[in-house]
Amino acid sequence: MAETRRVVVAITGASGAVFGVRLLELLRAAEAVEVHLVMTRAACLTLAAECDRRPGDLAPLARQVHQVGNIGAPIASGSFRAHGMIVAPCSIRAAAAIATGVTDDLVSRAADVMLKERRTLVLAVRETPLHRGHLDTLTRLAGLGAVIFPPVPAFYHRPRSIEAIVDQSCMRMLDQLDIRLDAAPRWGEAGGIAAIGEAAAP
Ligand SMILES: Cc1cc2nc3c(=O)[nH]c(=O)nc-3n(C[C@H](O)[C@H](O)[C@H](O)COP(=O)(O)O)c2cc1C
Repeated sequence: MAETRRVVVAITGASGAVFGVRLLELLRAAEAVEVHLVMTRAACLTLAAECDRRPGDLAPLARQVHQVGNIGAPIASGSFRAHGMIVAPCSIRAAAAIATGVTDDLVSRAADVMLKERRTLVLAVRETPLHRGHLDTLTRLAGLGAVIFPPVPAFYHRPRSIEAIVDQSCMRMLDQLDIRLDAAPRWGEAGGIAAIGEAAAP
């Protein structure tokens, strides 16, 4: 039997709380995955403003919900064997904290642990436009080994709804953790979208 993979999902106060919510929903369908959730205070605001949800509504979607101020939570330690972490959406504030090692809350500490333990850290950074300071932060994070994953929509799968756009981004974030959930069509795969050239073939 496959070893259960522990995945940390963090939701911060950038716009796009729906990405965090949908990741949790998708991970419920994944086999042998144990989800640990942490949300910032600002995330609670965006969750209410954008999704009409309260933090407590997400609790059933996670194995454990950790308080953002609980620096003693299991996910704050490298000895807690986690597979990887996705911060979605990731605010510029959180990205800057992770980039500089200012690990004064559980999101930045858990992310720092991922980097130091050479585990996968996916940051769905959402802000636009980006100034030079933002870009410097993201460059620094990429150099530290983080996957910089702005949730930029793709259109090659011809999404017909916001949900389809969100699902495709979430699927690709999970791909980074090697968790395969076919939440959207994949280019060139059976049941997906034919690659260019193949579509025109008889
Ligand atoms: C409705 C709303 C939308 C926001 N959107 C963004 C955003 O897209 N990107 C961002 O970096 N900050 C955004 N912010 C600001 C962050 O919430 C703010 O910087 C906060 O301090 C982030 O804290 P956190 O990193 O602890 O979640 C938004 C705030 C609100 C209220």
